[in-house]
Amino acid sequence: MIIARTADEVAATVSGPIAFVPTMGALHEGHASLIRRAAASGNAVVVSDFVNPTQFGPGEDFERYPRDLAHDAAIAEAAGADVLYAPAVDEVYPDGFATTVDPGPLATELCGARRPGHFAGVATVVTRLYGLIGPTQAIFGRKDYQQFVLMQQVARDLALGVEVVGAPTVREPDGLALSSRNRYLSPSERRTAAEVPAALRRLARAYAAGERTEPLLLQAAATEGLELEYLALRATDLSAYQPAAPAVALIACHVGGTRLIDNIELDPAAPDAAATLLDAKDPA
Ligand code: PAJ
Repeated sequence: MIIARTADEVAATVSGPIAFVPTMGALHEGHASLIRRAAASGNAVVVSDFVNPTQFGPGEDFERYPRDLAHDAAIAEAAGADVLYAPAVDEVYPDGFATTVDPGPLATELCGARRPGHFAGVATVVTRLYGLIGPTQAIFGRKDYQQFVLMQQVARDLALGVEVVGAPTVREPDGLALSSRNRYLSPSERRTAAEVPAALRRLARAYAAGERTEPLLLQAAATEGLELEYLALRATDLSAYQPAAPAVALIACHVGGTRLIDNIELDPAAPDAAATLLDAKDPA
C-alpha cells in the first residue's frame, strides 16, 4: 500500500476500476470492514483519510478529532487497501473553491436538523473526492444511515457514475456501534452508551413480536438513561414510516459531551432479523 498526498500520485499508482472508501481517519474495525468489502470487489482500493472541515459545525470536535496517519496506514493496509489518500486541506479546497453540493430537504431532517450544513459539507467533499479519485464504486457504512441514503441520492441526482454500496454496522460485544468518537467516552459514559443499542434491541424485539404501530415501537425503545436528540422510525429511503414496508429505526443522543448515532433496519419479510442481530450482541 502506498500513502498518497495528491490525486496525481493516486492516478500514478492505480489502474483499472476503483472502489473508494471515504473516511476521516481514526480508522477502526468498522472502517476495516468497508475496506475489505471494497477489496472483495476485485477493484483497486483507494481509502481517503481527510478530516473534512466543512462538515463540522461551530463548537463541534473538528480541532480535537483524532488524527494518526501511521495507525490508519496499518489498518488500511491490513484490510486490503492499495492506496491511502491523505490530502492536505488545500488539495481538497484550493484557493477559489466556491461550490457547494446541497442534498436538498432530507439534509435538514434527523441529524441535519441539529447540524445545519453538515450534509452539504459531506456531499461537497465526497463529490470533490470522486472527482479527484474517479471511482466506479464507493462504500459507505450503514451506521451513518442518513449519510448513506444521501450519498446514494447525490450520485443518482448528479449522474456521477458511482455505485454507492452500503455495508453493515460493526459493533462492540455489547452492541455499541464502533465509532471514532467512542474514544471520547469515560468508563462510566461508556457504560451509559450501551443503552443506545439496548434501546434499539427493545424496539427490534417488539417488531419481531409483531408490533408495527409507530408510537408503540418508539415506546419500546424509550429510555430514561440517555439525553436523546431524536428517536425516529422511517421507511428505508427515510420517507414516512409505512408499517408494511421495510423500515429503519434511528437514534441520536448525547452521552456526556459525545454525540452518538445508531440505527437498525427492520424488514417485515424477516421480522426477527434485527432482534437476532442485536440479541447476538446482548451480554445479558
Ligand atoms: P467516518 O466517520 O470516518 O466514516 C467513514 C465511513 O465508515 C462511513 O461510511 C461510515 O458510515 C463508516 N463507519 C463508521 N463506523 C462504522 C461501523 N461501526 N460499522 C460500519 N461502518 C462504519 O463518515 C465519514 O467519515 C465522513 O462523513 C466522510 C463520508 C468520510 C466525508 O467526510
